[in-house]
Amino acid sequence: MASEAASDNSQVNTTEKRVLLGATLFIGASLGLIAYATWGLGINVPTCVSASKGFEQASVTKHEEKNYEVHFVAKMWAFEPSRVRVPTGSTLDVYVMSKDVEHGFQILGTNVNLMVVPGAIVNGRVHFAKPGIYSIVCHEYCGAAHHNMNATVEVSDQATDISVDGLPARGASGGKILEDKGCLACHSLDGSAGVGPTFKGMWGKSVELTDGSTHILDADFVRDLILHPSKDVVKGYEPVMPELPLSDEEIRQIEEYLKDLK
Ligand code: CUA
Repeated sequence: MASEAASDNSQVNTTEKRVLLGATLFIGASLGLIAYATWGLGINVPTCVSASKGFEQASVTKHEEKNYEVHFVAKMWAFEPSRVRVPTGSTLDVYVMSKDVEHGFQILGTNVNLMVVPGAIVNGRVHFAKPGIYSIVCHEYCGAAHHNMNATVEVSDQATDISVDGLPARGASGGKILEDKGCLACHSLDGSAGVGPTFKGMWGKSVELTDGSTHILDADFVRDLILHPSKDVVKGYEPVMPELPLSDEEIRQIEEYLKDLK
């Protein structure tokens, strides 16, 4: 009896050891694969960036030789910038925000694959060792023209520095132009009264002029108001607005800004 129990025991011990060895090998292999994915393939989990890194405008910053930070804006149905050209061997730190709904952001053939949720900024890093044209696609259904929402990264041996297409006019957003040209001296952005009508919530509204005519504030009419301030005077206000030398592009930027000023 006693010897039978002892042999049972050693049987159990051998089986236990095998199971333990198997489990240890399995865990080791799993950790090894995770390590390989992280360092070998460069896969990293997309991170959500704190609001302190927030931005409202697409932009490009050069950190050092061939290391660039690109801020993408995703909106129905385009990315800003729409085209990025960089030298072969560049590393891009990519940040993406959405102006409206949820979008996707995948740079095909790379490890960057992000979900762009409104109110958050997501970030990824990609190294381009080989020249080529890499498509950026939105892979989250976001409405009627979702399938047209894309951009490209061109990696070439000819490029010596980063260049981009599809950024808003250089250095001047609509809000900045309004400030620089002194418009905000008379027009408020928060709905408060001033020498002229407030800009807040004006877009798409109907407005009556001193000559009795009524107009919808759309792109054409806002342009008219800016270019002919003495002709188009909003009812209840004095005809004191000066003529401003604004370029077409500046007017377009202002209109973009006013559209969003709800
Ligand atoms: Cu944006 Cu689909």
